[in-house]
Amino acid sequence: MSIGNTTRPKIANFAPMDYERFFSADVPSFLRSPVREIFRKVDLQSICSFAGGYPAAVTFPTDQIPGLAAAVLKKYGTRALQYGATQGVPELRAAIAARYGVPVSQVQITTSSQQGIDVCSRVFLDPGDIVLAQSPVYLGALQSFRAYRAEVRPVIAGKAGKSPIKFIYVIPDFNNPTGKTLTLEERKEIVALAREKDILIVEDSPYRELRYSGEALPTLRELAPERTLHLGSFSKIFAPGFRLGWMIGPEPLLEQIYVCKQCLDLCPPVLDQYMACEFLTSGALDANLVNTIAEYKRRRDLMLGLLEQYMPAGTSWTHPDGGLFLWLTLPECIDTVALYDEALSAGVAYVAGSFFYPDGSHRNTMRLNFSFIEESKMEPGIKLLATVLAKALNHR
Ligand SMILES: Cc1ncc(COP(=O)(O)O)c(C=O)c1O
Repeated sequence: MSIGNTTRPKIANFAPMDYERFFSADVPSFLRSPVREIFRKVDLQSICSFAGGYPAAVTFPTDQIPGLAAAVLKKYGTRALQYGATQGVPELRAAIAARYGVPVSQVQITTSSQQGIDVCSRVFLDPGDIVLAQSPVYLGALQSFRAYRAEVRPVIAGKAGKSPIKFIYVIPDFNNPTGKTLTLEERKEIVALAREKDILIVEDSPYRELRYSGEALPTLRELAPERTLHLGSFSKIFAPGFRLGWMIGPEPLLEQIYVCKQCLDLCPPVLDQYMACEFLTSGALDANLVNTIAEYKRRRDLMLGLLEQYMPAGTSWTHPDGGLFLWLTLPECIDTVALYDEALSAGVAYVAGSFFYPDGSHRNTMRLNFSFIEESKMEPGIKLLATVLAKALNHR
């Protein structure tokens, strides 16, 4: 076929083969995300979905993107299209360092905070190692720890027998999935535990800047800078399509992470970094954040009011001070995994809470997202959910 020929090449037919034998010993430990499976099965636009964790598209600075791209190309020319440093472009590292008051040498740019989690897993975990984590735990972190055949134990248990504990993984602010925030006391306890056991802390902090009420507390990095890797993200304060985040931590740890990242992606996306840098240093990020916070605060308050109005007796929920999620706890007799198909047929989606527990327990819980659903669908959605739950409670 010559170039420019419009006829499609024929898809080669081949004899079936057994591919299983090619997979590494890690592959059986890979965990499929139930949330992404929901996305694959259902057109979430056609129902009232509280299932995903996407930011609201109205918070993206869509109108500013062409101007940002033009400004970056004018300022940096072909540098913006070239490979860049593995640690991230110096301008963005400097901007992050200035924003959080740390030396540039303690900043590594990541291709999103999910990569930050995975790099920590690669660098620190051997099969059989223990990660202490909050329970329930963010699914993407659980997937990563499992992929390296580490075991996840609740942070409160704190005991790990003979296996080495490598780090404590924690989301101190507006946790995914619960929306909860750790108190100062709890933060100090985690730091004390890490110091007592002489282990690291991986502080996952993609929601910290999305606070709608209450006062900000110190980060774990601020409390224990010598042993904390703090992961930040542009996903919820800029746009997740850029796949950009950062990591702040002690230089000797970042040095090893830098080597590890060389084989992952050579460098974070350069044009994206310059655009994020321009957005941040021009003040546009903070201006946009004011609107984003106002938008999410309204949605959070709306959802809290609707839950109060419609949920059947015996249901309780968290009252998050920020972030994108809240967490429902139902009477023990309700099984949110078993109820899921019925809810979907009724036109409403959620994520069963047990998916966020390594042992699949707590089947009477669910995660609800309030950032993504159209506001006009919020009330019909909560009403539908309340009806499904009330019916299940009446039939027990
Ligand atoms: C707690 C937590 N960590 C990390 C991530 C991944 O974010 P990013 O888009 O920066 O990879 C998410 C995404 O929802 C999250 O909830």
